[in-house]
Amino acid sequence: MRVDLKVPPPQFREPRDVYEAASRLDPFQVLTAEHALLRLELSRALDAAKADPQGAETRRAIDLLVSGLRRHQKREDQVMYPVCERLFGGKDGPASALRRDHAAIAQVFDDLTVDSKRSGPSPKASLEELHQRLEAHFVKEERVLFPLMTAHLEGREAADLARRLRSLDLT
Ligand SMILES: [Fe+2]
Ligand SMILES: [Fe+2]
Repeated sequence: MRVDLKVPPPQFREPRDVYEAASRLDPFQVLTAEHALLRLELSRALDAAKADPQGAETRRAIDLLVSGLRRHQKREDQVMYPVCERLFGGKDGPASALRRDHAAIAQVFDDLTVDSKRSGPSPKASLEELHQRLEAHFVKEERVLFPLMTAHLEGREAADLARRLRSLDLT
């Protein structure tokens, strides 16, 4: 099945609305909630990097953001994208484009975690690039992939996916 990842016009939703609207049986509730949290952590890291690029507060904010991003991408790579590949195809399906996004995002956050004295992009420049890449990726998932998968999953499959997303051991 051919899936177009073109994003439709925005429908603004507050993070709190996203949390409250979703039920525990919705497999995408946990991922959408994580997107809201990661957006918040990224904005805190950007504020800290603008105020004091090499400061301890910036380092702490970046470490928190990167560990959350690693967990989120692992959850999707190991649990959600395999279901997406089964539903819509692997090689030319949407999951392959989204997996490539993850690799590009990981490259940017890996740069952020190297020694801050090394030459390279400033933390602020890397965080701004991360912001652009993450927003583009999150809207593809939230406004195209999650609704499409919701429409194609049977109730039992959706509940099973929700359970596996919540219980994946990420240590
Ligand atoms: Fe993702
Ligand atoms: Fe995601």
